[in-house]
Amino acid sequence: MTAPRRIFVTTALPYANGSFHIGHIMEYIQADIWVRFQRMIGNEVHFVGADDAHGAPIMLKAEAEGITPQQLVGRIAAERPKYLKGFHISFDNWHSTDSPENVELSQDIYRKLKARGLIYKKPVEQFYDPVKGMFLADRYIKGECPKCHAKDQYGDACEVCSSVYAPTDLINPYSALSGAAPVLKSSDHFFFKLSDPECVAFLKDWMGNNRLQSQVANKAKEWIEGGQDKEGNATSLGDWDISRDAPYFGIEIPDEPGKYFYVWLDAPVGYLASFKNYCAKKGMDFDAFLADKQTEQIHFIGKDIIYFHTLFWPAMLKFAGEKSKELNAANPKVRHIEYRVPDNIFVHGFITVSGEKMSKSRGTGISPLRYLDIGMNPEWLRYYIAAKLNANVEDVDFNAEDFIARVNSDLVGKYVNIASRAATFIHKYCDGKLAYAGDMVPIVEAARASAKSAQEAFDAREFSRAIRDIMANADRINQAFDAAQPWVLAKDPSKLAELQDICSRTLQGFKLLSVLLAPILPTVAARVAREFFGLDRDFTWSDTEVIPQHINPYSHLMTRVDPKLLDALFEPPAEAAQVTPSTPHPTSPAKGDAAKTGSQSASSGGTASNVPPPQPSHAGAGEGASHISIDDFSKVDLRVAKIAKAEHVEGADKLLKLTLDLGAMGTRQVFAGIKSAYDPAKLEGRLTVMVANLAPRKMKFGLSEGMVLAASGDEAPGLFILSPDSGAQPGMRIK
Ligand code: MSP
Ligand code: ZN
Repeated sequence: MTAPRRIFVTTALPYANGSFHIGHIMEYIQADIWVRFQRMIGNEVHFVGADDAHGAPIMLKAEAEGITPQQLVGRIAAERPKYLKGFHISFDNWHSTDSPENVELSQDIYRKLKARGLIYKKPVEQFYDPVKGMFLADRYIKGECPKCHAKDQYGDACEVCSSVYAPTDLINPYSALSGAAPVLKSSDHFFFKLSDPECVAFLKDWMGNNRLQSQVANKAKEWIEGGQDKEGNATSLGDWDISRDAPYFGIEIPDEPGKYFYVWLDAPVGYLASFKNYCAKKGMDFDAFLADKQTEQIHFIGKDIIYFHTLFWPAMLKFAGEKSKELNAANPKVRHIEYRVPDNIFVHGFITVSGEKMSKSRGTGISPLRYLDIGMNPEWLRYYIAAKLNANVEDVDFNAEDFIARVNSDLVGKYVNIASRAATFIHKYCDGKLAYAGDMVPIVEAARASAKSAQEAFDAREFSRAIRDIMANADRINQAFDAAQPWVLAKDPSKLAELQDICSRTLQGFKLLSVLLAPILPTVAARVAREFFGLDRDFTWSDTEVIPQHINPYSHLMTRVDPKLLDALFEPPAEAAQVTPSTPHPTSPAKGDAAKTGSQSASSGGTASNVPPPQPSHAGAGEGASHISIDDFSKVDLRVAKIAKAEHVEGADKLLKLTLDLGAMGTRQVFAGIKSAYDPAKLEGRLTVMVANLAPRKMKFGLSEGMVLAASGDEAPGLFILSPDSGAQPGMRIK
């Protein structure tokens, strides 16, 4: 036996200006499975997370909402537990980068880096918004592209012609915050000297020796050794600008009034801040833990933030730690913190939904909260994600059909069901007692071999391989059970021992599978351990080798996924509100207030003279419709569209997939609920009318980029799509 490992594990700290999305949850599920596995094999794991609270976007968002950044961050922090508990993520602590621990540690690291001669000051000329009174990051500057002259392009790159430039190259630049013309202004910035030869040498060494995944190591080496940028220019490691000027929501730089750490300096320090906060709660010695040579420090992150985690972060820790020791030796009053260089950075790819990348404005179409709210089982998602994850930096796609198939046929069909089948016989004929005929050694050895290969796979984050092996095992157990025909044996009392043997072997197999799946299915496994096998604790890895002798009656473990749930998951809540005209008067109060006014007057029966006349709170057909202005109407971009292609969608009872030709505007893919009324072949070539500026939305079957208009009534049956008069051309605006 080797001594247990002591591992400090983190996931990336999510920006605190928004709720968790499915990408965050995927990262937590990956890390959580690994952590639970490590704990099961007896390692000591401390798993922490925190909100990444600082930076300009959070400051500006809070300002726009009329609250303080702390209030904004507090609101987001308050909703975190619901998600984390909901998906069974076993963090030991959740904290924030806007915390005393983080101020202390970030400033300490800075001071030590400065003492080490790795910090210098240099004036930087940058765009400044004279109205907002602040320097503008590239994403807050817009203007005309210097190459293709497209308007309203961001300060770093043109979205139309993809050319890359500096904000100062923009023609007629303006501040995206105030609209003001920015002025160039100089200010002192602080830099971390990443180009220092010792720093470069250290990083080269650190990223060698197979520590990192090969894709990650290659990227990091490219950055450090110099390669080519997008335009073919030679690059090498530049120094890192770590300061921002006030106003900024962040941590002040010691002795430099008006200067703050750039958010990416204090964000990773937040890993340590959360851990320190946790140590204080647990009575653990933070300094001693880090100083222990046995301690491992591991960060799970996504592929977009490799740069920060393989260059800046290890270098900061390495040189602050070294200097710390030196300063402390010279003067014991200087507190020494043995900053550990990360032992590893585990990088995952991105989750896509139905093959589409997540977009900032429309998300993925899957909300983790909605997943929980509609009653979907979190362990289905844990299983599904695990089944698709390996140790490479590969994207993972969430696909509804695949999800249903994996959960229903593998998880429920192969794993959950064998227990109930075998348990029924054991209870009916053997009083819950298990007994095995013949030699036990092969059973134990087979279990040991399965546990060993699963252990290797989990440890290497090859979860899909672990699941493949576990399910192959489940297949063998099911086949052996079926081949023995226990339902036939049960009819012949002389075959009782045979019946008991096959059912016992099946249940021993089920127990083995349950232990191996426990990191992925923590609550199912806990119930199997406690309720079914009567343990007074959860499974540990060595339970794989313990042959069960008795079972309690089987109680239901997991239901199959009803495909209707996936429709509900993808259905955007109340999306129609986007095109439903709200209040008739642009100056009247917000929607909620208008609705309140309406109901008040209704309940008072219109007798109170000071109550305004009833206003319907929604625009319905006929008698209830309120007026809208022409401006409201013209917000809806109605276009003539030619149905270039119409197809059935596998698995959809109501939808047809239409490819719509909008002339110069290109083509759009739309899923229309018109299958009951139209044969797709007859639609092709027809003209119809579509809403062209409806926010695209992810549906179970793909992206729908608009809506086709159709008439239907409550009384009369039928569904009728609209057609323009002849002569109309695809792309024409309807107004
Ligand atoms: N705040 C920084 C991280 C600071 S770490 C010291 C940040 N935050 S984030 O909210 O944008 O992302 C948090 C994590 O979620 C990152 O690891 C990121 O890669 C991951 N993901 C964001 N979108 C994702 C997917 N679509 N799929 C999987 N993970 C994704 O970056
Ligand atoms: Zn351009």
